[in-house]
Formats: sequence, structure tokens, C-alpha cells
Amino acid sequence: MSFVPLEIEEYCIHHSTHPSKVAKDLMHFTRSSVHGSNMLIGEMEGSVLKFLIKLGRVKTIIELGTYTGYSALVMAEALPDDGKLITIDLNPETSKIAQSYWDQSPHGKKIQLILKPGLQALETLKGEYDLFFIDADKNNYPNYLQWALRHLSPHGLIITDNTLWSGKVLKSGVDKQTDSIREHNEMARLLEGYTKTLLPIRDGMYLIQKN
Ligand SMILES: C[S@@+](CC[C@H](N)C(=O)[O-])C[C@H]1O[C@@H](n2cnc3c(N)ncnc32)[C@H](O)[C@@H]1O
Repeated sequence: MSFVPLEIEEYCIHHSTHPSKVAKDLMHFTRSSVHGSNMLIGEMEGSVLKFLIKLGRVKTIIELGTYTGYSALVMAEALPDDGKLITIDLNPETSKIAQSYWDQSPHGKKIQLILKPGLQALETLKGEYDLFFIDADKNNYPNYLQWALRHLSPHGLIITDNTLWSGKVLKSGVDKQTDSIREHNEMARLLEGYTKTLLPIRDGMYLIQKN
């Protein structure tokens, strides 16, 4: 889902930093051959993530929701050489595709995959991280946000994807996933000591930064 007309989005993409050839190949392969490819963040959101990673001098990232590894790869491309990205997913088939493309990129060495359900994987992690990208099962969005808030480095950033959910978030009681995203958004709205903005980029990117 995109809230911006396609031709406007294409113009924006044309004038933004582009992903690498490996990332482009991965996107084309996913779109042509993998079920559920509308889940990909795509080029527009990818360029925004890259910009924020550079701007915030981010060195450590946790991503929830790897899928075929596109968002992990574009984020890794923006990290410094000693940067690290941990990405979590429970699907071994899509993770295998992800690994095969990361192996073709010089930035792949920054990425570590944990193949487990999100909450179980987070239990194995300690320390603080500069950026959380939340893009896995919507029913756990409030839990992922709570975990991220407890493990955010000073001035760290949380970015939660699909927070407009094709506009369904405007009403309560639509379905369980929508209510869970609404709960996440309300939690974020009420946070004190953070700067927040919900951007209508693609399906909604909620940016939450510790003051
Ligand atoms: C929207 S896709 C991620 C897209 C990816 N960030 C990208 O843009 O390239 C969501 C992913 O979450 C994963 N997922 C679903 N439930 C999960 C869970 N409980 N724990 C971890 N991952 C889960 C799915 O297997 C799927 O690959």
C-alpha cells in the first residue's frame, strides 16, 4: 500500500539514493518468484532508512522481520564497516534466499540472522542498540515496541513499518492485527521523553527517537 500516487513515488525514487545492484537483483527476484512480495519495503522506504542510518550515525541495528533480506541489505549498505545488523525471522525458506544474496554483497558480513520467533529471539539478546526496525508479525507490535524501548541506546531510534496498515488503523475492531497496530501507535503517541513522527511513506513509517 502506498499513500503517494505511483508516478510521484517514482519521481522521488529517481531523485533519491539508489540501492546496490545486489539489492535490486534481490528485489526483482522476490517480486518475480516469492510469495508475498508486497511485504518488501521497496526503494522509497529503503532510501529513507539509509538516510536516517547515516544521519543518526547508527552502528547497531535490530530488525524484526527479515523476509528475503531486502531491508536488511539496504540498511547494512548504510552502516559503517564495523556496523552490525541482527535480523530476526522464523521462515527458513525466505531466510535462505536472504542469505544467498547477502553472500554476494560486501555488506553481507555485517548481517547476522536469528531464525526464531521474534520474542524468543529477543530473549537471547542483551545490551543497547541504535536502531530497531519493526516489520514482523503485527500482533506482537506492542511487545516489540516495549522491548525496543528497554534496549534503545541514548538518542536511539525505533522505526515501525506498516503503521497505517492501508488506512485500516482509522477504525477500531476491524481485526486483531489492526487493533494491535493501533495499540502500538497509541503507546508511541503517549510516550514521554521521545520525539515522534508518523510518516505516510508507503504503508506508514512511525519514527520514535529518544530525546
Ligand atoms: C513484512 S515481512 C518483512 C519484510 C522485510 N523487512 C523487507 O522489507 O525486506 C514480515 C516477516 O515477518 C516474519 N514473521 C512473521 N511472524 C514472525 C514472528 N513471530 N517472529 C519473527 N518473524 C516473523 C515473516 O516470516 C516475514 O518474513
